[in-house]
Amino acid sequence: MATAPEMLATPEVVIRTMVETDVTSVVAIERAAYQFPWSEGIFRDCLRVGYVCRVAVAADEVIGYGVMSVGAGEAHILNLCISESHRCRGVGRRLLSYLVERGAAAGMSEAFLEVRPSNTSAIRLYQSAGFEQVGMRRGYYQAVGGREDAAVLKLALRPRRGSTR
Ligand SMILES: CC(C)(COP(=O)(O)OP(=O)(O)OC[C@H]1O[C@@H](n2cnc3c(N)ncnc32)[C@H](O)[C@@H]1OP(=O)(O)O)[C@@H](O)C(=O)NCCC(=O)NCCS
Repeated sequence: MATAPEMLATPEVVIRTMVETDVTSVVAIERAAYQFPWSEGIFRDCLRVGYVCRVAVAADEVIGYGVMSVGAGEAHILNLCISESHRCRGVGRRLLSYLVERGAAAGMSEAFLEVRPSNTSAIRLYQSAGFEQVGMRRGYYQAVGGREDAAVLKLALRPRRGSTR
C-alpha cells in the first residue's frame, strides 16, 4: 500500500513507496541501465514479499528506484538505479540515504550490498556514504563472455525502532 509522499531535501523529487503500477516504468529504467536487468517478475516478487521498494518521482515521472530487504539484523540493498537522464544530480545519494535510514529505523545494525568492481560511479557513491568493502563474491554476476566478481560492501547502522514501510 502506498504511503504518503515523503519529501526529502530537493523539493522537486519525491521518494515514495513503489506500487504495482510503477513496475512498467521501473523495468524500462532497469533495462536501459543494466546489461543483465532484473525481469518484471523480480520487481513484482519484491513488492509481493514486502521488501522496502521505493521510487524517486519528479513531475509525476518515475526517475529511479531502490529495493532493500531487511531481516536478521541486516539490511540488504538489492538494487539502486537512476534513469540515465537524471543521474549526477544527487538523486542516487538521496535514495541511498533513504534506504539506509529505513534500515536503521527497522532496527537493522548493518547494511550490505554487492557491486561490480567495474562500476566505479556506484562504488564512489557507496564509499562516500560510508560503505566499506568487506569481501568479494567470486563469479557472482553474469557478464559478457563469463562471470564477474561482486565486491561486498558494508555499512554499520545505528539501529532504532521505527516503521520499515
Ligand atoms: C550509481 C547511480 C545510482 C548513482 O546515481 P546518481 O543519482 O547519478 O548519483 P548522485 O548524483 O547522487 O551522485 C552521488 C555520488 O556518486 C558518485 N558518482 C555518481 N555518478 C558518478 C560518475 N559518473 N562518475 C563518478 N562518480 C559518480 C559521486 O561520488 C557522487 O558524489 P558527488 O556528486 O559529490 O561527486 C547511477 O549512476 C545509476 O543508476 N547507475 C546505473 C545502475 C547502477 O549501476 N546501480 C548500482 C548497482 S550496485
